[in-house]
Amino acid sequence: MEVKRICCIGAGYVGGPTCSVIALKCPEITVTVVDRSPQRIAQWNSDSLPIYEPGLDEVVRKCRGKNLFFSTEIEKNIQEADIIFICVNTPTKTFGNGKGRAADLKYVEGAARMIADVAIGHKIVVEKSTVPVKAAESISNILQANLRESVSYQILSNPEFLSEGTAIEDLLKADRVLIGGEDSPAGHAAVAALSSVYMRWIPAEKIITTNTWSSELSKLAANAFLAQRISSINSLSAVCEATGADVSEVARAIGMDSRIGPKFLKASVGFGGSCFQKDILNLVYICECLNLMEVAAYWQQVININEYQKSRFSAKVIESLFNTVTDKRICILGFSFKKDTGDTRESPAIHVAKTLIDEGAYVHIYDPKVYEAQIREDLTHPRVTDDPEATNQVVSVFTDPYSATKRTHAIVICTEWDEFLTLDYEKIYQGMMKPAYVFDGRMILDDEALTKIGFHVHTIGKKVGRHTTLTRIPLTLRCSTPQKLRENHFDNIWKK
Ligand code: UDX
Ligand code: ADP
Repeated sequence: MEVKRICCIGAGYVGGPTCSVIALKCPEITVTVVDRSPQRIAQWNSDSLPIYEPGLDEVVRKCRGKNLFFSTEIEKNIQEADIIFICVNTPTKTFGNGKGRAADLKYVEGAARMIADVAIGHKIVVEKSTVPVKAAESISNILQANLRESVSYQILSNPEFLSEGTAIEDLLKADRVLIGGEDSPAGHAAVAALSSVYMRWIPAEKIITTNTWSSELSKLAANAFLAQRISSINSLSAVCEATGADVSEVARAIGMDSRIGPKFLKASVGFGGSCFQKDILNLVYICECLNLMEVAAYWQQVININEYQKSRFSAKVIESLFNTVTDKRICILGFSFKKDTGDTRESPAIHVAKTLIDEGAYVHIYDPKVYEAQIREDLTHPRVTDDPEATNQVVSVFTDPYSATKRTHAIVICTEWDEFLTLDYEKIYQGMMKPAYVFDGRMILDDEALTKIGFHVHTIGKKVGRHTTLTRIPLTLRCSTPQKLRENHFDNIWKK
């Protein structure tokens, strides 16, 4: 089957960049990204794209209007497409059965029902959103139950492994492309058709095909493994702070073991983003449903450590500032969940800001790519505060780091933006209240240079100064009993 037209349902962080790169690499295929949000489509058709992603602007500029289109005409584009990608969001359920853990498939189901209503001819429907194992089966059930004459479908699972901030590079030079399909002649033909699209730029040996369930589970497993590495190194960062070991040295030493490898070993204030927590919760839920309670508990611990890390870091800030931040001004540098993206979903900065606000601080925030409206929306969300008005009053958002840090008592680095490496910290120090503190939740700053300027520096996973002794146990560890951590954790989960 020759693929001439692709329609992608969902113009978000996955659908937008993925289809832009497909359009770039397949000039003879017409790629249309549809979304039910007219604002989102208008932004994709404007000079100011709805998401910030290095390299994306250039790709869109090259292809838009030629073989790449953004449209709200969902039905027409579904009808014309040979391949339909489902790239809608699959957030964690906030109510009902599986609340706080299971993936909410209402958007996937909505997209499947729309396809069932309007499709004509033969369609390959590709599930790209991260979904629970067997979601393809649910999509297939909806499509088959509503089958009209002369319509036929093949459902494929083709999970997307791109990371935000490096999406274009990840898409252009994917480690692998995974395609899961039905073990039948029609299934094999559909897999071959989709493979032919990727083969325009991905070497054939990197395109792997499996059965649908393995493909679906592999995506959850990949994210669970990556998140588990971060929780592992973050758990060791607490040991380092208590003992005088340095977590970046430990990471370097273990990362040189080729069996372990150096990536995803950077200790931090905690992982964020729309995928890791959601996918692990989903995995935990699946395991519980399968009565695999030990397996569920194992993966749950990855999330528990992440919650612990965010709480531990926030507690360290408060404890270091003489155990009170009431009426103090604290500057948070970085609000996105990682550098090179404006995405704030599950950003650890939200947790840190909330804790400081709850403790009575005035919070100054600067992020190079997150808009003020987004920061305020995140911090006044019902799961973060009961009093949005009061929160808005104590939060100030700045458009440059120098004004943001002025007259503050401390700087808290929550995102590893490159521009924070080259700020004039002498100048910043002069403008701050004394003693001036830096809490580096991303291990990006030169703590020795900052100490020379006069700052008190706390870097995650690193002893403070040279006074730490092997027997010193930080207050944060002493007061965070496993019971308390569990309570905090479930409190957080159920609020979502
Ligand atoms: C992740 C997966 O990497 C990607 O394959 C999948 O398709 C979607 O989920 P993403 O969430 O965009 O991608 O970013 P990622 O680079 O994985 O970072 C996730 C979080 O982990 C960020 O908050 C990041 O700062 C943090 N992180 C990452 C660390 O704290 N330490 C590390 O060493 C790496
Ligand atoms: P992701 O990070 O998974 O790409 P986003 O939230 O960034 O998630 O994007 C998902 C997009 O899917 C949103 O723009 C949303 O409007 C769109 N969407 C959800 N359901 C439908 C649907 N049934 N039809 C069209 N678009 C949809």
